[in-house]
Amino acid sequence: MKNNRRTAILIDLFQMILGEDNLEQALAGSLELLVQVLECDTGVIWLRDRESGRLVPMFETGPLDLSNLSVEPSTDIESYVCKTGEQLMLSELKTDGRFTGSILEDYGYTIENMICVPLGNLKEVVGCLQVVNKKNSAPFTEEDFMLCTRVAAVSALTIDEKGLSVNAGERKEILISVRNIIKEFPSGEGVSRVLKGINLDIYKGEFLVILGESGCGKSTLVNIIAGMDSLTDGTLLIEGEDYSHPTDKKLTDYRREYIGFVFQSYNLMPNLTALQNVQFIADIAPEPMAAKEAIEKVGLAERANNYPSALSGGQQQRVSIARAIVKQPKIVFADEPTAALDYQTSIEVLKVFEDIVRTHGTTVVMITHNPEIAKMADRVIKLKNGLVGSIKLNIQPAHAADLVW
Ligand SMILES: Nc1ncnc2c1ncn2[C@@H]1O[C@H](COP(=O)(O)OP(=O)(O)OP(=O)(O)O)[C@@H](O)[C@H]1O
Ligand SMILES: [Mg+2]
Repeated sequence: MKNNRRTAILIDLFQMILGEDNLEQALAGSLELLVQVLECDTGVIWLRDRESGRLVPMFETGPLDLSNLSVEPSTDIESYVCKTGEQLMLSELKTDGRFTGSILEDYGYTIENMICVPLGNLKEVVGCLQVVNKKNSAPFTEEDFMLCTRVAAVSALTIDEKGLSVNAGERKEILISVRNIIKEFPSGEGVSRVLKGINLDIYKGEFLVILGESGCGKSTLVNIIAGMDSLTDGTLLIEGEDYSHPTDKKLTDYRREYIGFVFQSYNLMPNLTALQNVQFIADIAPEPMAAKEAIEKVGLAERANNYPSALSGGQQQRVSIARAIVKQPKIVFADEPTAALDYQTSIEVLKVFEDIVRTHGTTVVMITHNPEIAKMADRVIKLKNGLVGSIKLNIQPAHAADLVW
């Protein structure tokens, strides 16, 4: 029975990897499936930057955020596997000299056992596939190992054929760190735990998209990070400073100086023109750009003196983006900003976000239900039942103009 299930899954995996046009998507999907079958905690697909030799986590499932970890060619187990092409099944890591594990202390996470196999062909090793910590501290089995090597073999074949490669780039600068954040809401007699221990770093200048089923906690998480809701437990660091339980003043300053927010509903003031709506916020910000400039940036110069009632949904949303960026915030959060818009208008709005990130270097964190929009991101976080389910690196983020749904 168990073997039948594994065979069926193996066939699924192969079809997914070999049949899918979008290789990154296929690799991500197959790793998710593999982790499920092996009943383990975490899976990572590392790819090698051919220039520097460094390894970058292209896709990971599990409770950690390893995105900033590009591993040096000479350190730790992943690079050992890539260098030697050796396949490893390790059940006692603490005593293994090839494993440093230091990076995980931060999370209070211990790696007990691991399978790490190279993604390679006859010519070279392009990366490795790694699975970590089987549930209930059970060791990985020979069968698990075989499954991993087979998945790795098919993955490597396809990576090679389609020429997927990564650029490790510079080490990314962390703007916000979320560690083991828990959020509970009162529910009946007791409490309901909505966020169950979120770990996530947000980098300067990145475009981060958050996906996840309705009710999984996306808005709750973003509201906490944006200083609009409090956390029950865990740590929130803003540029290294602790904002887990800030004073009211500190929180107000943070929101005013640091953050722009765009909601699904535009929340414009109906008795003010587009320009006045933006000016209103510029007046209370410490270092705003000119309101007119913000209106121009979202392509609404000609509509500046219109009242919201005379603007289309997309135009109103662009005013609300102008309002968010006029403060020159370090980070803009957007909670389903295109949910109320049709396709064409959504693309116009997404182009503005693209410009904010790619031209101005402002960090954008966007919640969406639309996986097509996720293609624009540098990284895609999937939340699942109040935890980070997976993190995917987009090697070549798409342009808004090229999205189709
Ligand atoms: N203020 C609150 N009081 C009680 N429960 C809440 C509160 N806010 C959110 N919740 C609950 O927390 C869970 C997560 O809500 P959240 O709004 O974060 O989900 P979401 O992922 O944004 O969903 P959607 O995609 O539908 O917007 C839901 O079950 C919701 O009912
Ligand atoms: Mg929501």
